[in-house]
Amino acid sequence: MNAIDEHVSLIALQEAPEEWSNDFMPKTFDEYLGQVELKKKLAIYTQAAKMRNEPLDHLLLFGPPGLGKTTLSQIMAQVMEVQIKICSGPMMERTGDLVAILSSLEPRDILFIDEIHRMPIAVEEVLYSAMEHFRVDVIVGQGAGAKSINLPINPFTLIGATTKSGAISAPLRSRFGIFERLDFYLDEELAQIVMQSATFLGITLSQESALKIGACARGTPRIAKKILRRVRDIAQVTNENSADTALVDRALQFLGIDAEGLTTIDHLMLQKIITCFNGGPVGLETLASMIAEDKDTIEQVYEPYLMRKGYLEKTSRGRQIPHSKLPMLKARYVGQGFIV
Ligand SMILES: Nc1ncnc2c1ncn2[C@@H]1O[C@H](COP(=O)(O)OP(=O)(O)O)[C@@H](O)[C@H]1O
Ligand SMILES: [Mg+2]
Repeated sequence: MNAIDEHVSLIALQEAPEEWSNDFMPKTFDEYLGQVELKKKLAIYTQAAKMRNEPLDHLLLFGPPGLGKTTLSQIMAQVMEVQIKICSGPMMERTGDLVAILSSLEPRDILFIDEIHRMPIAVEEVLYSAMEHFRVDVIVGQGAGAKSINLPINPFTLIGATTKSGAISAPLRSRFGIFERLDFYLDEELAQIVMQSATFLGITLSQESALKIGACARGTPRIAKKILRRVRDIAQVTNENSADTALVDRALQFLGIDAEGLTTIDHLMLQKIITCFNGGPVGLETLASMIAEDKDTIEQVYEPYLMRKGYLEKTSRGRQIPHSKLPMLKARYVGQGFIV
């Protein structure tokens, strides 16, 4: 795997399901660290719905990949003592796929649809009456004899997850009763998450090492855990029984992550904006083709973190480096032989 591939997989939109199969997964709101305000709200909603013996209102969760949307939904199902079925928007190709899933739900079950903004429109339309009236249209028979019948389904909760809230159509958006966003985690929260996983995996980690991982993890638990896995690999092959900060440094180096959590692609993007556009503004399309990266990935994965770090801003004319950061970044990328 070359450096770029490693970065892409580091913050990929989707996680390989086998990757964490033996890792710690939070199963209660208490074990789910951070997102304190959101957790408080969701705990009340789920508790109230459970007491009324009703399904929860349909919920739309918005936030960059890896922040814990799927995990949170699984915890909610656990609290409600119902089943959760997990599927992904782009994988549902035909309306029949969704109808089959909806018909299989027990009362109050949760249906979790990941990347809901990428669901084909015909499939999305099935959701409208399912969400609002708990009914679906089913086609029976074939050819001239085919007819559509409208069948009831059990009352359920739809949890839609999206990395791109602006891409949700208005009719779909209006059918959600609750709309919540997940924010990036603080470094200290990520350090706690790292410690939680390390304890579970039996790795001895100093507080300092956990904080170091937290500070480089782009505010994202999935990345923090990925770094921890590499730390564990290195500790294992070098026969070290505790992971100090030097070992964390080596893991970060392997992954091509710098002390601020920036990867090769982040640096490449900033460097292009500075050297080719004198700090911007530059359109997303132009930028994407210059660094040979997918537009959506730039928008949903790289930009949010660069903006949070204050290295990038969005204007009506495109992306640009904020004035306050320009001299520092120019010094870093221009004429200093900075090689991305
Ligand atoms: N608040 C948290 N506390 C502990 N671990 C978390 C937390 N949020 C996410 N994780 C872990 O991070 C990884 C990514 O979470 P996931 O729910 O798949 O994110 P998303 O669905 O938003 O992409 C999982 O391994 C999950 O266990
Ligand atoms: Mg997910």
